[in-house]
Amino acid sequence: MPSEPKTTIPGLREIKAAGGKVRMVTAYDFSQARLVDATEIELILVGDSMGNVVLGYPSTIPVTMEEILHHTKAVVRGASRTPVISDLPFLSYQVGPEEAVRNAGACLKAGASGVKLEGGASFVPTVSRLVQAGIPVMGHLGLTPQRALEMGGYKVQGRSEEDARRILDDACELQEAGAFALLLECVPASLAAAVSATLRIPTIGIGAGPACDGQVLVFHDLLGLSPGPRPKFVKSYLNGWELAGEALGHFAREVAEGVYPGEEHSYGGSGKPAKR
Ligand code: KIV
Repeated sequence: MPSEPKTTIPGLREIKAAGGKVRMVTAYDFSQARLVDATEIELILVGDSMGNVVLGYPSTIPVTMEEILHHTKAVVRGASRTPVISDLPFLSYQVGPEEAVRNAGACLKAGASGVKLEGGASFVPTVSRLVQAGIPVMGHLGLTPQRALEMGGYKVQGRSEEDARRILDDACELQEAGAFALLLECVPASLAAAVSATLRIPTIGIGAGPACDGQVLVFHDLLGLSPGPRPKFVKSYLNGWELAGEALGHFAREVAEGVYPGEEHSYGGSGKPAKR
């Protein structure tokens, strides 16, 4: 029998209404998903950050629909209790709402419970069309890495009054278009607080201060799996890079010295080839 999900898409709004926090972590494969699934974390995001942390691309721009679908399927197999959100990659939703429906629909067919897309007011018709098709959509405002070229780099957004006003307006429009949650990346904490207080849907922050209704981190950042440096907003709960490096070095030394494998890792037998 399939296990009970930790929450549902409508359930996220109830968490906000009850004053709780929505916790989300990215995952890109079966074993990472199993790790997250065994915790209380409510949501998994198959982020296009896979371009940086898994596929070794210089940005998220090269990530394709095929890659998102491949990783979504692996994550879904490991996440029996945790709803999975697929990130729509660059050029999978920008060309038009119909293409967005086809690509987002493919994510749902792969087992995702919803999709995330970057952008404000100009994507409202796309968000409406997806919601009309029964596809839950998470918005993403502030620093939107798929637009890093246009933004002149990975910079905090919404620092001027005009930019802050635009982000607040975009947030309201996305909510009215039917988005079920809004990710806020790299915006001043005061702006994230204002957006969170204005919206009925939960805001999920990353580099957006403590007043958001939830928080997301990239799996590799949370576990310290890269050599660094890491952005200011990241808190690593494990020094995974150092610990994994030590373990790999330990293995290499023991094999070279003949310590591993030992008797206890070896099979006994008659020494004769087994009969078929
Ligand atoms: O792709 C991603 O990992 C993201 C982060 C902001 C969580 O969108």
